[in-house]
Amino acid sequence: MSDDIKKGLMGVTVDETAISKVMPEINSLTYRGYAAQDLCANCQFEEVAYLILNGELPNKKQLKKFIKEETKERSLSKGLINILKNMPKKSHPMDVARTAVSFMGLEDKETTSNTPEANLRKTMRIFSKTPTALAAFYRLRKGKKIITPKKKLSFAENFFHMCFGKVPNKDIVKAFDVSLILYAEHSFNVSTFTARTITSSLSDIHGAIAGAIASLKGPLHGGANEEVMYMMKKIKKPENALKWINNALNKKSVVMGFGHRVYKSGDSRVPTMREYFGKVAKIKKDKTFEKIYDIVEKVMIDRKNIYPNVDYPTGPTYHLMGFDTDFFTPIFVISRITGWSAHIKEQYASNRLIRPLAAYNGNKYRKVKSLNKR
Ligand code: COA
Repeated sequence: MSDDIKKGLMGVTVDETAISKVMPEINSLTYRGYAAQDLCANCQFEEVAYLILNGELPNKKQLKKFIKEETKERSLSKGLINILKNMPKKSHPMDVARTAVSFMGLEDKETTSNTPEANLRKTMRIFSKTPTALAAFYRLRKGKKIITPKKKLSFAENFFHMCFGKVPNKDIVKAFDVSLILYAEHSFNVSTFTARTITSSLSDIHGAIAGAIASLKGPLHGGANEEVMYMMKKIKKPENALKWINNALNKKSVVMGFGHRVYKSGDSRVPTMREYFGKVAKIKKDKTFEKIYDIVEKVMIDRKNIYPNVDYPTGPTYHLMGFDTDFFTPIFVISRITGWSAHIKEQYASNRLIRPLAAYNGNKYRKVKSLNKR
């Protein structure tokens, strides 16, 4: 293959963005200039969502207005509830999320308008309703009644309320909130690039987000947090971990939750999420997965010099919080809608159709033979 071909667009800079950057000098992922761990320590997710969408942290008045807009849009239409009720119970919740966002686009009165104002209103509707749709499916597939959203609860609290009918203690909610902050944005990753590519043809925001969800589902991207948990469940006990991971590496298997296209010596989000994973494990009085976590991580670093990415600690954290494993990537979705929407806005504001080239390696020119001569 020619050296001119950058398979997987590795190392190719395709555009500019003002939304986020990994800053090597402070070894941090930054959103609009703020380190993600600084935001985790000082803000709730709603403030970070506002920052990503609007460029600055909100003051009290702006936050109040943003929360009012978000909580106002949480309810689902009867049409969408019926669609959710009729979805096969075995559907993967990522496919449910994708279909729900697509359906919201059919219902939205502003689908055909791509003005910045209409797009912001549509963003708020998608951002507010997607958690409700996912939580509804979470319950419907277990044969339980849907729980309606509560305006008085924060974004994180409300998600617990809608899934489980109760809100856990504040430390668990904080750990969940932190995971949402860490998942909210990460520059030109696969799903964001998908959203920008869809947007570049001047298509609409519901389509771009539905496409981004499909892209995030893959195990090489967001689907990794789910795969991490399947791996940990397979390992089962800390005593099995060393043998399991050495076998996996001997067989040259890809170990989920490790490695990254951008970070080659550690994902800057991991230490924060690892700390909250520890806190949740302590509250739940279950250290099994923490022990497995440490053993697998050590072997991956010692033998391969490959470090965990953020999906490694979020997987077992969500498990301890009580979520079904196939709901881990959908949680990523409800957070990343903010990052995707900000990128969609940026793409519209300075658009150029994304249309790369390919080196052709197929058949030489030939003539069609009629059917009876083939
Ligand atoms: N387990 C085992 N080996 C890994 C690995 C992992 N998780 N991640 C990378 N490697 C190895 C590859 O096998 C390859 O080895 P080789 O050079 O001997 O062939 C080398 O490291 C480079 O990996 P490559 O897949 O080419 O890097 P990439 O930048 O294209 O891929 C990922 C990055 C994220 C796709 C890759 O690390 C991966 O598949 N990770 C697991 C899935 C995951 O956690 N995804 C979430 C990302 S946030």
